[in-house]
Amino acid sequence: MAVPFFRPSITRAEIDDVVHCLESGWLTTGPRTKQFEEEFAARVGAKHALALNSCTAALHLALEAVGVQRGDTVVVPTMTFAATAEVVRYFDATPVLVDCDPVTQCIDVVKLRETCAALKAGKPVAGLKPPYGPLKALIPMHYGGQMADVDGVAQVAKEFGVPVIEDAAHTLPAYTRSHAQAPWRQVGSTADITCFSFYANKCITTGEGGMAVTQREDYAERMRVMSLHGMSKDAWKRFTNQGSWYYELVAPGFKYNLTDIASAIGLQQLKRADALWAERKQLAERYRQKLQGFKGLELPVELADRQHSWHLFSVRVVPSAWSIDRAKLIDELKALSITCSVHWMPLHLHPYYRKTYGYGEGLFPVAESIWPRLISLPLFPGMTAAEQDEVVQGLESLHRRFGR
Ligand SMILES: Cc1ncc(COP(=O)(O)O)c(C=O)c1O
Repeated sequence: MAVPFFRPSITRAEIDDVVHCLESGWLTTGPRTKQFEEEFAARVGAKHALALNSCTAALHLALEAVGVQRGDTVVVPTMTFAATAEVVRYFDATPVLVDCDPVTQCIDVVKLRETCAALKAGKPVAGLKPPYGPLKALIPMHYGGQMADVDGVAQVAKEFGVPVIEDAAHTLPAYTRSHAQAPWRQVGSTADITCFSFYANKCITTGEGGMAVTQREDYAERMRVMSLHGMSKDAWKRFTNQGSWYYELVAPGFKYNLTDIASAIGLQQLKRADALWAERKQLAERYRQKLQGFKGLELPVELADRQHSWHLFSVRVVPSAWSIDRAKLIDELKALSITCSVHWMPLHLHPYYRKTYGYGEGLFPVAESIWPRLISLPLFPGMTAAEQDEVVQGLESLHRRFGR
């Protein structure tokens, strides 16, 4: 049996609403997008939500809204996807990389504070030499769907007087609390701006899409204007009978709006967000039961003060238990028709960051020790018990052949 890495969960509700949208005659940003924004904001406890065509667009607009400019510095984890740092480069600003926590793989707050202090003092930081431009923002990322130490990050942000933009591409829903007696807080309510992804394999999907949420009116307004060419307020309404043909350009903006066709999918997916989460949670629990005694892998840890989204089930190969390396293990799983992935090779090891900044081996030891061992196993709502058993049995059979 072939097991894909991911299969989207699309029901009649999404299909019907897309058809209704097509029949309505309104395809681009319009009433469905407005409703999606309102329902999303309510869901995550944010005052404002802006639907966009990707999380990358959301991160870009967030940095623009907090005032990042050429030459500034923005702190980003090295253990993240391309988008988290590339948006900093859009401004010709510098992404300052920081190592990850050995358990969660989210940004290490102690190292974050050290890095911010070094930047402020004009001292060298891993991979970079002074002089630096002003520090303008911190972008923690919630690896695999488990929230970073947002209290720790908020404390550092306060000490250095900068806003926090959360890269929540993997998280919906997810919760954190400061300690066992503290109330749970939901992703979307803990940062100055939080950016979500609705890419095909994310917790909820619109095919491609994203959302930026914030409590601040000024950030929301700036992001809305910049998401549509820098046109003055509510430009999309200009083709409706509520709007006017008149607009003014107040800045050279971007074209990042989400279509109503995508929002039709998003509205239905949002209604299912908790049900999809429950399925992923159950699958994660089942992997844990089935793989508990398996010598060849370390399983992901869910901290007591987090509720994980389980976007990824990212395991670590135990090198001493195998005669083959991670890459060969993935190839062997592929030969059994089981598709896995890796999240990620750290940014500082990629050619662009090496060439542009002189980043390279030896700078971020935790990320470097973890990444050669990472494998993301298939996990998605609608995955059958038989498919999951196939993955577990595949791993066990490979361990009989290649284990030690
Ligand atoms: C951590 C992280 N941030 C940002 C993104 C970008 O999301 P999008 O494809 O919606 O732009 C991704 C996409 O996989 C991601 O994994």
